[in-house]
Amino acid sequence: MPKRDYLAFPDLSKTEVQALFQLASRMKSGAYREKPLAGKTLGMIFAKSSTRTRVSFEVGAYQLGGHALFLSSRDIQLGRGEPVRDTARVLSRMLDMLMIRTFEHAEVEELAKYATVPVINGLTDLHHPCQILADIHTVQEHLGDIEGKRVAWIGDGNNMANSWLDAAALLGFELRVACPEGYEPDRETYERAKTRTKTLITEDTEEAAAGADVVTTDVWASMGQEGEAEERKSAFRGYVVDEALMKLAKPSAIFLHCLPAHRGEEVTDAVIEGPQSRVFDEAENRLHVQKALIATLLG
Ligand code: CP
Ligand code: NVA
Repeated sequence: MPKRDYLAFPDLSKTEVQALFQLASRMKSGAYREKPLAGKTLGMIFAKSSTRTRVSFEVGAYQLGGHALFLSSRDIQLGRGEPVRDTARVLSRMLDMLMIRTFEHAEVEELAKYATVPVINGLTDLHHPCQILADIHTVQEHLGDIEGKRVAWIGDGNNMANSWLDAAALLGFELRVACPEGYEPDRETYERAKTRTKTLITEDTEEAAAGADVVTTDVWASMGQEGEAEERKSAFRGYVVDEALMKLAKPSAIFLHCLPAHRGEEVTDAVIEGPQSRVFDEAENRLHVQKALIATLLG
């Protein structure tokens, strides 16, 4: 059987994603007792900071009977210029699975191409598919099946927005993106999604949020964009999820944020701490969906 990677949301089929959510629920409830990672090691390469991704993968590997190895790219030879393809082949001789968080998506594709073990994308500048698995699992726990629902994305057309687009196309829900001109999601990802599901890109946050089942956002400047922070602060002025915007969504709507959040920028304290916020369920679900993902990739 060829190895399976998880670099972007469409790497699993709709049926596989649905099965993954069922498995994640069993894991969360404590009913699942298997140890598919027994005697195995997951290597985790990080070129960017992380709280949730690191902890959820490390704890998840342990709970599945395995071990996780934290590899900061500042400390391994990759950070001193050792080629990705050499790193991939060396680590594949010792590890059973790899997770990587880095800048360029092409680097993750290169790692996957040369690795003989499954590779998981733990965030690139282009995609954050593990987070979207957790987000959709959270939606389904609170609102039922996401198919046919409306999700409003407010703010930067970044890695999160791109993975939301991929997910909308695969699972059949509507995605409305409100972003300033020049900060739209990845063109290719958008073109692909819009042929498969209802999508909208607008500069109007109210148009996006109207009647939404889910309202979600992310920071104005992602990791690696710190130098653009000031410029982005003025470009994104008004792209804020506040109580007035939440009122335009359905009364049953929930608010999601992958975290870390900047209160007073993309979201107000009242919304993130408010009754519609599910951000901590969302963070916890990283653990459950990723354990299910590891088990799925191991077959
Ligand atoms: N949401 C998320 O990926 O968080 P970390 O950057 O803390 O891993
Ligand atoms: N868009 C953010 C997500 C962090 C989890 C970033 O890339 O920094």
